[in-house]
Amino acid sequence: MTQKLDRRLALGGALALAACQGRAQATAPAVLPAPLKTLVPFPLGCAVMTGQLDDPGFVQLLTTHFSQITPEFELKMEVVLREDGGFDFARPDRLAAFARANGLGFHAHTLVWYAEAAPAFQRLDGAGKAFADAYRNYILAVAGRYRGLARAWDVVNEPVEDDGSGYRACLWRRNLGLDYVARAFHHAREADPHAVLFLNDYNLESSPKKRLAFLRLAEKVLKAGAPLSGLGSQSHLRWDLAPGAVTAAVRDLARLGLPVHISELDVSLQDGRFNQTNRQARVQRQARLVGEASEALAALPAVQRYGLTVWGLRDGDSWLRRPPNAGDGTDAPVLFDDAGAAKPAARALIGARV
Ligand code: G3I
Repeated sequence: MTQKLDRRLALGGALALAACQGRAQATAPAVLPAPLKTLVPFPLGCAVMTGQLDDPGFVQLLTTHFSQITPEFELKMEVVLREDGGFDFARPDRLAAFARANGLGFHAHTLVWYAEAAPAFQRLDGAGKAFADAYRNYILAVAGRYRGLARAWDVVNEPVEDDGSGYRACLWRRNLGLDYVARAFHHAREADPHAVLFLNDYNLESSPKKRLAFLRLAEKVLKAGAPLSGLGSQSHLRWDLAPGAVTAAVRDLARLGLPVHISELDVSLQDGRFNQTNRQARVQRQARLVGEASEALAALPAVQRYGLTVWGLRDGDSWLRRPPNAGDGTDAPVLFDDAGAAKPAARALIGARV
């Protein structure tokens, strides 16, 4: 027993050392010739939380390389709409003020999401006109508050079933039918005459079926005369995504002629199909996927290059390093490492432009 245990400990130690060495080799800092935002032909955004604004290192790195921010969660119903139906805008207001003070674009996220049916709305479930009025009033109040500050809104987030078989059942659809989507766009335009109004979803690269359902919904909404004016592909990718999948998705989204936003880019290194692949190889695959996303967006006509937003500044800022998604806690899904050093993915973003 002890001999087997000794062997296991030795093997475990060796694997841990190899992993560290792999990480050390794989994440040698990339040299960036200039701020990233000056080296890409589209606005470069980053998800931000108010707590990060108290970290000078975070602010310095963010304002150096990025030209836009998206509230990661503090402009969502979970923060803005209190249990009693009142509003709390303190945190999103701070983010909007930070953007304005630093000359950054402000991408507002998100008005209507199946995953956030706040208690104040759940109390109106089945209440007919009262529900519909509250839905409109919420969107008018929230989108109206950032009129002139928000460059765009993710008006409806993640309406499509994961398998692409149809559209999610949710509180909004239960009370308003699938028309909840078009209504949200009309209410958002009523609140803000200028913001770009996005439909946003994920796995549009890895699931052509989901992408088709997403595009069919966009066409349906447009045909209904709703002021949908942008399509967002979140692009939460995994390192083993097939080359070309991102390009195909961006091209398909661009077919409707609307601005396209790669809206929440990260590339997880967590296990995929080939989970024996070593860390260094995964890091290189990650960089190639970031480069592909950048190239695909850059290839669009200028009016359709809304922007590319990464979902976290440094690896340690990523949702993929926080429960319940943290896995083994070693994921490194974004452009800068825990210490703020640029990674191969950051260099890949600018590709052959320099
Ligand atoms: O900051 C508080 C902390 O003070 C508190 O102790 C802790 C426990 O209650 O909560 C912390 O806030 C959490 C926040 O993440 C920061 O960790 C919120 O409860 C939690 O709801 C929030 O989760 C966000 C999630 O959306 C739900 O809003 C994630 O940060 C955010 O990355 C994630 O982003 C989504 C996009 O909106 C849509 N696409 C998928 C993407 C990833 O899930």
